[in-house]
Amino acid sequence: MNFDQIEIVSETWKPQEVLRWGFERFGNSIALASSFGAEDVVLIDMAAGVQQHFEVFTLDTDFLFPETYDLISRIEKKYGIQVERRQSQLTPLQQEEQFGPQLWKRSPNQCCDLRKVKPLKAKLAELQAWITGIRRDQTPHRRNAGKIEFDINFGLVKLNPLADWTSVQVWQYIRENQVPYNPLHELGYPSIGCTHCTRPVAQGEDLRAGRWAGLQKTECGLHLKEQP
Ligand code: ADX
Repeated sequence: MNFDQIEIVSETWKPQEVLRWGFERFGNSIALASSFGAEDVVLIDMAAGVQQHFEVFTLDTDFLFPETYDLISRIEKKYGIQVERRQSQLTPLQQEEQFGPQLWKRSPNQCCDLRKVKPLKAKLAELQAWITGIRRDQTPHRRNAGKIEFDINFGLVKLNPLADWTSVQVWQYIRENQVPYNPLHELGYPSIGCTHCTRPVAQGEDLRAGRWAGLQKTECGLHLKEQP
């Protein structure tokens, strides 16, 4: 089957089938991008079920929650994996020296670009395909995400095995399979990014309302179809 056909037939596949295809097709040149959110821990658990060795990397912005760093260690232990931490070329101090204090408040896009998008670009240049936990109902930009698609932004294949899942399905999987998860999810943080730009959401609020709250921003730039 050519890639166009795979894009179409994969829409009927379960997440595990999408993962299995990716590991078979790309071998060592595919990796899971994980922020250790609910979707990401589900994917790690599923990957462990279909593949003995798989690569996981995280964009460590230096501003993650202590609970997130702790979860990374717990996941490493449980699945016997070593998560690759990719960081910005600038330490938080160097960023402050070059761009002034609290860049995330004045220019969140620039901060995301320095701490997430650039390190991601560098990592993806080493790969032929990446796996993400995005779901279609998360943001307007994600509505058309394919389960398997070509990422024109970064120039490689992108697998979104949970594209058609709901948050309810994600949580059902976590509970049924006793997957370790971030305790912040139970303290009102359905979507977790950096400490400066994530706040808890109130009941009934959109699940991503706590990301860059008060700003128009809903994406950090990892999943846009065009260059941010
Ligand atoms: S974001 O663009 O708003 O930050 P979100 O938190 O919804 O993204 O995560 C969506 C997917 O992007 C995750 O499932 C994961 O695949 C990838 N991702 C987001 N943040 C990171 C990160 N810090 N490190 C690695 N992958 C990430």
